[in-house]
Amino acid sequence: LANGLAQTPPMGWNSWNHFNCQINEKIIRQTADALVSTGLSKLGYTYVNIDDCWAELNRDNKGNLVAKKSTFPSGIKALADYVHSKGLKLGIYSDAGYFTCSKKMPGSLGHEFQDAKTFASWGIDYLKYDNCYNDESKPTVRYPVMTRALMKAGRPIFFSLCEWGDLHPALWGARVGNSWRTTGDINDSWESMITKADMNEFYAELAKPGGWNGLLQAPLLLGCDISNVTKETMEIVSNKEVIAVNQDSLGVQAKKVRMEGDAEIWAGPLSGYRVAVVLLNRGPQQSLAITANWDDIGIPPKTVVEARDLWEHKTLEKHFVNKLSATVDSHACKMFVLKPIA
Ligand code: GLA
Repeated sequence: LANGLAQTPPMGWNSWNHFNCQINEKIIRQTADALVSTGLSKLGYTYVNIDDCWAELNRDNKGNLVAKKSTFPSGIKALADYVHSKGLKLGIYSDAGYFTCSKKMPGSLGHEFQDAKTFASWGIDYLKYDNCYNDESKPTVRYPVMTRALMKAGRPIFFSLCEWGDLHPALWGARVGNSWRTTGDINDSWESMITKADMNEFYAELAKPGGWNGLLQAPLLLGCDISNVTKETMEIVSNKEVIAVNQDSLGVQAKKVRMEGDAEIWAGPLSGYRVAVVLLNRGPQQSLAITANWDDIGIPPKTVVEARDLWEHKTLEKHFVNKLSATVDSHACKMFVLKPIA
């Protein structure tokens, strides 16, 4: 969407995966604090996104959405002020239907302009917009109403389309929002992540600056409890070199360029004639030697490259011509950035 936002994928946190409907203003404040104290905000994780269940089921007598009194007693504006005072941004959630998916709060269908104004007046920076309990008209009719409402609201608000595929959102999302879903919800299992990565890859060519496919070259939204992150998780999500691939200015999503049994090679171009490569072993049992050929990953033949291992934080001593091979453990991957040298 040409609203000037999301030139690179947004980064931050969303409350749904870990907290579901058990959210309150204290959790949101603590998460904002934790994003700062862990150093994650400095790495770019700046959106603090409240998902479903933040509002009263009934609007007020003027038809305005009202924050749930028992869990958000200070109101959303106060929360936005707090989050902004930490240098972060606040996201919120609504639905292009009569109720949100929890059925615990109203949706915005028929109230788009009023709700967009409310969000802007509170200082909201991001809206995730779901598709539950709608009137069965097409999402391509209902979603653009909110797009127009947000553009009139007087504040730049990132627009995330949470439509799972009634109508292949990737095919129309770029005109309507800044990101769109390509799959149902992920969960923290190998099966979920790998199958959804496959589904997402199908739409790789539709991602570009201003509009992103959820999952790869995608919004990097953490779903865990930021106040209780394990050391291992922290190391993964704070890997600056991997984040730099996600945030690369070229904004081209990687694709699966070769599959051989359980071995896969994923690759995509980066700025500065560099290429990001992932060697992935999908097998449950043994390690595999996996080779990326220049032919497959878009590097001209005979080009000599320097390889940086992004998980080991090491530039390999050896230079490579025409291919790069590595041994990859089961259910694991290696990630490299290849840079041509003169
Ligand atoms: C849907 C979405 C989830 C979450 C819930 C909230 O299931 O896919 O990401 O927003 O609704 O109820």
